[in-house]
Amino acid sequence: MKPADDPLADYKSLVQKGYDRIATEYAEARQKEADGGLGLLTEKLDLQARVLDVGCGAGIPIAFTLSQRFEVIGVDISKEMINLAEKNVPNAKFIHADVMSVDLPMAYFDGVVTFYTVFHLPREEHKELFRRIHRWLRPAGYLLATLTKENEEPYLEDDYFGINMYWSNYSLGEYEEMLTEIGFRILEVSSTGHGYSETHETPEEHHPLILAQRG
Ligand SMILES: C[S@@+](CC[C@H](N)C(=O)[O-])C[C@H]1O[C@@H](n2cnc3c(N)ncnc32)[C@H](O)[C@@H]1O
Repeated sequence: MKPADDPLADYKSLVQKGYDRIATEYAEARQKEADGGLGLLTEKLDLQARVLDVGCGAGIPIAFTLSQRFEVIGVDISKEMINLAEKNVPNAKFIHADVMSVDLPMAYFDGVVTFYTVFHLPREEHKELFRRIHRWLRPAGYLLATLTKENEEPYLEDDYFGINMYWSNYSLGEYEEMLTEIGFRILEVSSTGHGYSETHETPEEHHPLILAQRG
């Protein structure tokens, strides 16, 4: 682990190219059944509700599970991930884009999910990301997001599925404050696992899972 503090580096492009390279390996290592935590959102939505999956990856298990009951749109910055998602989840729609520049309709979605993605965006973008999500949600729509426990300065890990990868994040308390300031109401904070199948060798880690509602 080393600091990601080179002012000339393009860390977003590093994330995009990284996921393009490891898309297949990541998808194989990913847990194939959705964690029960997804139910926090799905139990609140009507059949055919519109759900956006931010950083949808290869679509398994989140977009796939959602697509059984809802109208799903997934967005991902990695073209390889989008290619896999289109094969894995034929009845959802996928957009290859950076979530910070994608154009989506205002007040359109009943729910937005984002699993294991926020920490790959530079953290100075996190508040704006949640503002964008807030605008895309209809009034009283729901956000379900995996976040992080601790505040961590931007860093690189040189052996994430064999490549260099970037992370940066705030603490859970800071995210709660940020979401409240933007106009979300925090409904529940629980925890979910690392998202990998049992065979993957990453040590067990837990991520806070937050359910919030557009005020
Ligand atoms: C750890 S994977 C999680 C994938 C999926 N959500 C899951 O649960 O398996 C992180 C995903 O976020 C995507 N991502 C990272 N930065 C992004 C950005 N700025 N806009 C859209 N997607 C992004 C990556 O390409 C990658 O597919």
